[in-house]
Parts: sequence; structure tokens; C-alpha cells
Amino acid sequence: MLIGKRLAFIGAGSMAQALLHGLVGGKLLAPEDVTVTNRSNDERLRMVRDRWGVHVTRDKAEITSRSDILLVACKPYDMAGTLAEIGRYVRPEQIVVSLAAGVPTSVMERYLPAGTPVIRAMPNTSSRVQESATAIAAGRWAGEHSLAVAEAIFASVGKVSVVPEAAMDAVTAVAGSGPAYVYLFVEALIAAGEAVGLSPEAARELAVQTVYGAARMLVETGADPAELRRQVTSPNGTTAAALQVLEARGFQQALADAVARAVERAGELARQAAGEDAAPAVPVASATERSA
Ligand SMILES: NC(=O)c1ccc[n+]([C@@H]2O[C@H](COP(=O)([O-])OP(=O)(O)OC[C@H]3O[C@@H](n4cnc5c(N)ncnc54)[C@H](OP(=O)(O)O)[C@@H]3O)[C@@H](O)[C@H]2O)c1
Repeated sequence: MLIGKRLAFIGAGSMAQALLHGLVGGKLLAPEDVTVTNRSNDERLRMVRDRWGVHVTRDKAEITSRSDILLVACKPYDMAGTLAEIGRYVRPEQIVVSLAAGVPTSVMERYLPAGTPVIRAMPNTSSRVQESATAIAAGRWAGEHSLAVAEAIFASVGKVSVVPEAAMDAVTAVAGSGPAYVYLFVEALIAAGEAVGLSPEAARELAVQTVYGAARMLVETGADPAELRRQVTSPNGTTAAALQVLEARGFQQALADAVARAVERAGELARQAAGEDAAPAVPVASATERSA
């Protein structure tokens, strides 16, 4: 799906670098087909060029003209400024993929020529180890082809689900914020292990390996988590006793409330992004500017 495609990274931060690792490191894209830009960090841009052998530039007209796919990897609050800079050079046959959490495709489309396919993606931090749970959603002009291209991009750093855009706040709450819930669980398990007499080192090693092993069991067996839980819970055994305490203390309810609050917060942030947006009509670049 990506063979022969030229891709531009607008932004060279941690997420762009995770994707460079997956796409260029994984040989899905040739370095000469990848161009990277950022706002002002020269050292970062040099480091990216030296590490991956990709082309780097600060010229927004150049980066746009060199690419079939524009992957916008800046922070949500920089999205309007970035799109205002590149929008005039974008051609509707290009695909724009955004990583900015909470910025709806309808807001991005206002900065781009009518007909430009926009895909919104929500990867998570596990992209850095090629184990992201990423969801992608199509904007109004993005069809099956654009979705398949975006799916191929994010498959280089993990698993990809296609969802309707209305589900993106739920995705953020479950998979975007999800690693933090797991880290909190592990922190608590380490502290609990220490409280019952394990050394900090042993508590960490046991807690981390337990979560890793359980995750692999889920992935490799494909079994229902409730079934796997039942398999380790002998009647009247230690696990059953521990789970009773977790249930009595509202473990599941706390998680459900946390996810619901994250959905609410994602909606608040998206409304802010849409409300603060004052996108001008897209000024169309002249043919000379485009080919510059
Ligand atoms: N990190 C994650 O795990 C994660 C997970 C899910 C979603 N995301 C989303 O991914 C996006 C990127 O996150 P990140 O962690 O990679 O951010 P980051 O490390 O802060 O990088 C942001 C990049 O955007 C560049 N930038 C800002 N304005 C620009 C402009 N006008 N033109 C060109 N480049 C511009 C910055 O350049 P300078 O450095 O030169 O300023 C920087 O290279 C965010 O929207 C975030 O919501 C990230």
C-alpha cells in the first residue's frame, strides 16, 4: 500500500520518530521518499536526517510538493498554525493524516482545499516499541484508499482499528490514556508487593513481568479475559480472596468512571479546539509557489 508513496512529516517530535522507526527502519518506505520538517529545532532535524537518511527542509512549499501523504505530527494547539502554513500548498489528491488528539477532521478541512482526504489517527505511546493500539477515522472526503494508506502507516508501529470519528473520544479514553491506567496499576502492584515484604527490585520485576505475561496470554490465546481470569481463580483460593476485595472496593466501577470522565474531557478539549479555530478561507497557492 505504501510502495512508491512519498511521505512528509510535518513535525519531528517523539511520535514522528516512532513512525520513522516503523516506516523507514522497517523498510516500508525508502528514506529518499520521506521528507521531514519541524518548526525551529535545528538539532532535532539534523539528528533525524543523520539517523534515517531522509530529506529535511523548513520550506513548507517544498515539503508539500515532494509528498503524496502529509503526516501532521504537531501538538493539537499548534495544529491551526501549522495547517494555516501548509494549507495553501496542499492539493486535493494528497492525503493529510493528523495525529493531533482532539482536533476534528472538520476543523482541519477548513484549512485545506475542498476534496482533500483527511484521516485522524490516535496512536498511543507504545508506538515507541511498535506496540501501539491506534485508531483511525476518516474525514468527509477520505475514502477506502486513504484509510488503507493510513492503516499501512500505523500498522508499522502496532495494531490499527478503523472507527467512526464519533468514537474518537472513546478511543482516546480507552487506548490513548490506557497506558497510564496500566502504569498506575503496576505502580500500585509494586507498592503492594513491597508492603507485604518484597524488595523494591523483586516487586518491580514480578509486577512488570506479570502484566507483560498476562498481555501476551490475551493476545496469543485470543481468549476472553473473563475466561482467563476464571482459569487463575480457584474457588476459595488466594486469587478469589483478592478479587473479592478489589470488587468490594469498586475496582471496575472506578475504571468505568475514569474512562467516562476521560471521554467527557476529550469532548471538552475538542470543543475548545473547534471554538478557538478561526480558520480563514484557504488561500490557493499559485502554480509557481506549488512547484517551488
Ligand atoms: N507522544 C505520544 O505518545 C502521542 C500519543 C498519541 C497522540 N499523539 C499526538 O501526536 C502529536 C505529536 O506528539 P509528539 O509527542 O510527537 O509531540 P512533540 O514531540 O512535541 O513534537 C511536535 C513537533 O511538531 C513540530 N511543530 C510544531 N509546530 C510546527 C509547525 N508550524 N510546522 C512544522 N512543525 C511544527 C515541533 O517542532 P519544534 O520542535 O521545532 O517546535 C515538533 O517537531 C500530538 O498532536 C499528540 O497529540 C502523541
